[in-house]
Amino acid sequence: MVEEHLRADLRDAHAVLAHFIGAHHPVCGIVLGSGLNPYAEHLVDANVLSYRDVPHMHVSTAAGHKGQFVLGRIPLTSTWVLCMQGRLHGYEGITSQDVAFPVWCMAQMGIDVLLTTNAAGAINPSFHVGDFCAITDHINFTGRNPLVGSEPAQIRERFVPMAHAYDAELLSVAQQVAQRHAITLRTGVYLGLGGPSFETAAEIRMFSAWGADTVAMSVVEEVIAARHMGMRVFGMSLISNMACGVAGADPNSAEVMETAESCLDSFTTIIDGIIQSLVANGCGQ
Ligand code: HPA
Repeated sequence: MVEEHLRADLRDAHAVLAHFIGAHHPVCGIVLGSGLNPYAEHLVDANVLSYRDVPHMHVSTAAGHKGQFVLGRIPLTSTWVLCMQGRLHGYEGITSQDVAFPVWCMAQMGIDVLLTTNAAGAINPSFHVGDFCAITDHINFTGRNPLVGSEPAQIRERFVPMAHAYDAELLSVAQQVAQRHAITLRTGVYLGLGGPSFETAAEIRMFSAWGADTVAMSVVEEVIAARHMGMRVFGMSLISNMACGVAGADPNSAEVMETAESCLDSFTTIIDGIIQSLVANGCGQ
């Protein structure tokens, strides 16, 4: 049974976040996944707000997830973005609505584009560690959905179409940016599950038969909440490892963090390229 407090909690959080953002209008919200938190460090004029200081927001407990909002400018531009330096995962023992909460907060602040990122395992054997994969579609295998309960329906229609959850135009922009900079950007179907244990090789064979190219323990609940609010979504995974059993892989969390560190420059190039294109197209101005 989902408790009825979501709208009141969002109102409380909004008061604090609106004050934090002040007169700036972030062109997008960015969720930084495992190992990708350092992206926020290249922002200029940055201000930080700990999740601890946002009413009703849970604090990140996963390794390498700092647990703070960072508001800052893309270097050499006047474009502001709001980063989540660290995300919330279901395996941290929180509800699906808790995971989705910061995305609802972003939408409530008028942010209408979500760039969500993570580290993922490759099920598709043609992918390589260090590649990026833009998400074209997902399989929600978490067994959860943040729109369950009566309150999401009171905020907006809860029977959200998911056919075009990942924005075709943002994907195309990302592909152009990657091509321009000779960065390998794959496309694929992402399968999100609850974790925190990694998958078995048998599970990965099953996911492969279902058409999944990548797998990890985040993203899908955020994307459902973003689409609930009508946000445009771009999702991108860094392939941090081959999934269990693919080419004999037996992934662990240290491997996931190591790969991300070495791919940060390319990650920044793609994300900043998408943002520049959003601004060129008049978004968030
Ligand atoms: N499985 C699940 N989650 C992950 C993986 C994986 O292989 N890599 C990074 N996050």
